[in-house]
Amino acid sequence: MCGIIGIASYKDISKEILESLKKLEYRGYDSAGISTINNGEIVENKCAGKVSDLEKLIKKTSLSGNIGIGHVRWATHGAPNQANAHPHSSEEVSVVHNGIIENSAIIKKELIDKGHIFKSQTDTEVVTHLITENLKKMNYLESVFETLKKLEGSFALGIIFKKFNNLIVGARRGSPLAVGYTDKEKYIGSDSYALNSMTKEVSYLDDGDVCVLTKDKIEFFDKNKKKIEKKIHKLANDEAVYSKGNFKDFMSKEISEQPEVIKKCINEYLDKIRKEINIVNFPVDPKKITKVNLIACGTAYHACAIGKYWFEEFTNIDVSVDVASEFRYRNNKIKTNELYIFVSQSGETADTIAALDFCKKKGAKTCAIINVTESSLSRLADLVLPIHVGPEVGVASTKAFTGQILVLLLFILKIARNRNEIKEEEYLNIIKDLENIHSKVSLILNNKKIIEDLAVDFIDIKGSIFLGRGLSYPVALEGALKFKELTYLHAEGYPAGEMKHGPLALVENGMPVIVIAPKDRFYEKTISNMQEVIARGGKILLISDHADEVATSENIWSEIRIPKIHKFLSPFLSNIPLQLLAYYVALKKGNDIDKPRNLAKSVTVE
Ligand code: M6R
Repeated sequence: MCGIIGIASYKDISKEILESLKKLEYRGYDSAGISTINNGEIVENKCAGKVSDLEKLIKKTSLSGNIGIGHVRWATHGAPNQANAHPHSSEEVSVVHNGIIENSAIIKKELIDKGHIFKSQTDTEVVTHLITENLKKMNYLESVFETLKKLEGSFALGIIFKKFNNLIVGARRGSPLAVGYTDKEKYIGSDSYALNSMTKEVSYLDDGDVCVLTKDKIEFFDKNKKKIEKKIHKLANDEAVYSKGNFKDFMSKEISEQPEVIKKCINEYLDKIRKEINIVNFPVDPKKITKVNLIACGTAYHACAIGKYWFEEFTNIDVSVDVASEFRYRNNKIKTNELYIFVSQSGETADTIAALDFCKKKGAKTCAIINVTESSLSRLADLVLPIHVGPEVGVASTKAFTGQILVLLLFILKIARNRNEIKEEEYLNIIKDLENIHSKVSLILNNKKIIEDLAVDFIDIKGSIFLGRGLSYPVALEGALKFKELTYLHAEGYPAGEMKHGPLALVENGMPVIVIAPKDRFYEKTISNMQEVIARGGKILLISDHADEVATSENIWSEIRIPKIHKFLSPFLSNIPLQLLAYYVALKKGNDIDKPRNLAKSVTVE
């Protein structure tokens, strides 16, 4: 999951290429680099670290050229150092790559036997040497096709040539690649977001496609080298939403946007007069669905886990929830009367795409709940339900999680109503509370200072446990994920009732245990589990909407009171303090909030 950019222009592209790389940094920030063609030579600049480090390097060495490719890296093969940073260049060719070349070790050996000398530990460098070898006997396009034939794995590639110095070749198999057009320039990019500030017209390569860009035109070829045409998509003009505004970081901006995005998303889906949810074109008739399968990764998986509880509450449909990286390799019995729902913020997560592809190939009907509508997943699914939360830049997912559970809930309510499995009164009560939920999220956000003050006590902890039951169990999982991702401190999410089957052994004097206990049918049981933790010295931070002096007693270290809401809607509120807690602890530790170490926003490798 790296970021690629390529620009073919009539003018010097150094500034544009750097700016695009800054936008692509959410895909990886271990190292960065650029190659241009300057005075008939390939000039490569690259370094370990962020794009700002590359910018400093380039100021010293100077960079220019009308044709160039750039890259931000998330290391897979080889440490994040200068030698392993992309581009990887020979005398003749320079290559940037996103994905993994699975048979690189075998190819490398063959090339070494032919006298090629490798400078890095990356899988990508074999592409550079293979093309260089092929160029000895064929033209640039043939040499690329010949190289692609040998590669196994997934990739998006950007390639420039010393001898063919007015063009860029792009290729895709498995990893996404977009191209962009203006009158005077042409582009390739890992996604349309990187191209958005330069053009509003893009096309997407399909697997096996190759494209050739000059400043004047783009030509497309399919895997059989046949010339093909591509549909041109218009991008929305939403540059302003990519700015931090007055916020310190994107994450705090995105947390604070949640009341607004909830309102916007409800407006998109709900007919407020008829109280109808506007979702049509079901790929499987809701009345005939025999089972629903929810599949995703990370935070989106936690959204699915919440969806399972809702499906079971409101419908009689069987439900399974799966992590995409497991689902795609299991011996799944895919059935055409089941519905397969994929949830993803980016729509580019490699495992989620592969899982959807697997289902499609077996004839199943698929639905994707996504944020980035110009993504691979949205092009593949039979039904696409956007979450309408706007671009999420911070690596830690916050407003997208809220949007994902909101759209899942609306979808489930729609299916339940269609099947006559939810009582009208219950449906209307939920809709009524949903319409008002944004103001309750605002109330929690207005009191964030309480959480900021509590955060100081978490800086030096050894680890923490997040507990919940029912709908609050996936909330606990999500709270723990956010906490470890941002603070680099160990955190474990657990079903409160499972503690005594092992994890209770971890609890010692002063260990922070975060208990999520809204007043639902699990409340008393969770409070009992909490007392078991207190008895072992656990330091409790309770998140609840219920004032219960007797049950909670003076043994609680601290409590965050959230507003009351319909019992099935509690995740929308209980998750917010957990986002804030992770944020403030990370801030106080001085961690990089928007780019936590070792991670990337879009996980395009499996
Ligand atoms: O783009 P996706 O929603 O498919 O991404 C899935 C996960 O990589 C993502 O949710 C990840 O877990 C977040 N960084 C967590 O905050």
